[in-house]
Amino acid sequence: MTAYLNAYARATEDPEGFWREQAAELDWYQFPEQIFAPEPSGNGRWFPDGQLNTCHLAVDRHVANGAGERCAIIYDSPATGVQERISYRQLQARVARCAGMLRALGVTRGDRVIIYMPMIPQALVGMLACARLGAVHSVVFGGFSAAELAVRINDAAPKVLLSASCGIEYDRVVPYKPLLDKALELVAGITPHVVIEQREQVEAPLRGPREHDWQALLAQADPVAPVPLKATDPLYILYTSGTTGKPKGVVRDNGGHAVALNFSMQALYDAQPGDVFWAASDIGWVVGHSYIVYAPLIRGCTTVLYEGKPVRTPDAGAFWRVIAEHQVNVFFTAPTAFRAIKREDPQVRLAAGRDLSCLKAVYVAGERLDPPTYEWLHSFLPCPVIDHWWQTETGWAIAGNPRGLGDFPMKPGSASLPLPGYQLEILDDDGRPVPRNEPGNIALRLPLPPGTLSTLWGDPARFVDSYLSVFPGYYCSGDGGYVDDDGYLFVMGRVDDVINVAGHRLSSGSLEEALGDHPAVAECAVVALAEALKGEVPVGFVVLKQGVQPDPAQLEGELIARVRDAVGAIASLRRVFILKRLPKTRSGKILRKTLRSLAAGPEVAVPPTIEDPAVLDEVRAVFEQAGCYDAARASYAATGH
Ligand code: COA
Ligand code: AMP
Repeated sequence: MTAYLNAYARATEDPEGFWREQAAELDWYQFPEQIFAPEPSGNGRWFPDGQLNTCHLAVDRHVANGAGERCAIIYDSPATGVQERISYRQLQARVARCAGMLRALGVTRGDRVIIYMPMIPQALVGMLACARLGAVHSVVFGGFSAAELAVRINDAAPKVLLSASCGIEYDRVVPYKPLLDKALELVAGITPHVVIEQREQVEAPLRGPREHDWQALLAQADPVAPVPLKATDPLYILYTSGTTGKPKGVVRDNGGHAVALNFSMQALYDAQPGDVFWAASDIGWVVGHSYIVYAPLIRGCTTVLYEGKPVRTPDAGAFWRVIAEHQVNVFFTAPTAFRAIKREDPQVRLAAGRDLSCLKAVYVAGERLDPPTYEWLHSFLPCPVIDHWWQTETGWAIAGNPRGLGDFPMKPGSASLPLPGYQLEILDDDGRPVPRNEPGNIALRLPLPPGTLSTLWGDPARFVDSYLSVFPGYYCSGDGGYVDDDGYLFVMGRVDDVINVAGHRLSSGSLEEALGDHPAVAECAVVALAEALKGEVPVGFVVLKQGVQPDPAQLEGELIARVRDAVGAIASLRRVFILKRLPKTRSGKILRKTLRSLAAGPEVAVPPTIEDPAVLDEVRAVFEQAGCYDAARASYAATGH
């Protein structure tokens, strides 16, 4: 406990001294003389005059230090039956050539490269090659639609788009080229080079001088060395869902990111060089950026790149196979993945004969680890199970059980303690701190530590508006929760219109845009409904235009298909309900918070601003009829909660 308390106090009282020491763990072309430069917003920039290269830190440094033969990446793909081990030396050669390929296409420092790829080694190589050149990558999750990809192309204006001929979803091959073509059609005036890794499952047709075969182009490329960059130069943009339809382009810098990730690997994950680290996520999400790619490689670990699912690839024993086969030491995934396994194999029969003793700890994030899933995991895993809380914006955990800094008791349902660098407070809606055990808004006192977002791409005003203006002097997380008497944090969920489906973050606004485009729909709202497997699922409410009388089942099918087409397969609405009107304030604002509360249970406080309280009965009746309250009642009957 002392190590944690010391580190926490030091990071709070002498942040510059604390982070200077952490920075000294890395190689710099120029070590920063200035550790922190404050900005008028209350936030600031870390290591502003330092120079380094993230790709050098993640790859070349280990080769130079004699670890070139250590395995950097284990690619395990039940989707294709392929396994490959890539050493740091081999990775260096591949990344250097890929950087040469990008340079030959005109990519230089500061240019953007969009990466829309499945979980194959080329995707990691592409990311690291961008970092090597100082180009800014923006990885777009493969489950997003052409329209969502187009929004990101429009915003980032990339010079190159790296992709592959297909992704593989269970036994379904998803060709990417039609999606790319459609996305580029939707974009005006941006014509990136498109470089495609041809996979054997599907051949993508290449047309015109700007479409290239990855391997053919690579064959002509010369290797390129890492370019010294300013610590404050952007490493990547990662789009995430806000409360409106327009995604937020979270910008991560090079220096703070490398320092913070390296620190987190020691303090939180207790991962040593040479350890096998597996984050079963996707490179399209922040977990993939931080803990499939950058942190394990910067720390000199072996990272597992898994192209498969927790279930049905081929069965619910897939995770146990990978852990045992590759002797994984630290494992990280989302609670929903474990719930999917538990549903199919509650007795964990498929782990029989698998040696899981290699595991030092299992980490979960993306949503709260619900106590039943925690207890289930705890009953058979030979190691601690640690819930930790973070966001795309922060890039690394805000709260967790810092195993590298001591041995702490676990509390089911809690994300444990704030990590050094984060000063966490619970505030009421007026920005006043609330007493222990009382719920409120989780806020972080400024400045944020290294590694957290520096701005939103192309929209610094939105950065300030969304995060820094709500509670002056604080970063507003958008999550609600409380801190108990021992200082443990309990995160209870979003207080805004962000929805979390199977660990995927979606904005109700983008789903509403898709619903609102239907010719029969006058008005709509989307909220999250609690669900056993995915945590939450989106449900829609529509008010129809005057005189329109569609068949309700057919309309629901059309609206669900429309959302899937507009946002992507991961966003499929569970249900759409037709209402005569939506609950609104007297000034006409939709009362989404009240809809959210009604989705959770029939008893809600009637907002004083509501135009007509009778509308709540209508919504309640719809939920009742759809059986939404049955599960909650069954749980209450069983547990009293
Ligand atoms: N490309 C194309 N389609 C994709 C996709 C991708 N990369 N990822 C998901 N989809 C599709 C799925 O195939 C599914 O399609 P379907 O409706 O035709 O069946 C749809 O999107 C919904 O996917 P998902 O929400 O993932 O549900 P699922 O039932 O396929 O799987 C889980 C459920 C729990 C197994 C899965 O969501 C999972 O593994 N979650 C872990 C989440 C995670 O790692 N989050 C990162 C934060 S740590
Ligand atoms: P993302 O930006 O996609 O990583 O999603 C971040 C959001 O996921 C947070 O704002 C939370 O709402 C939720 N989240 C992530 N980790 C946890 C956790 N351990 N407990 C509760 N909620 C979490």
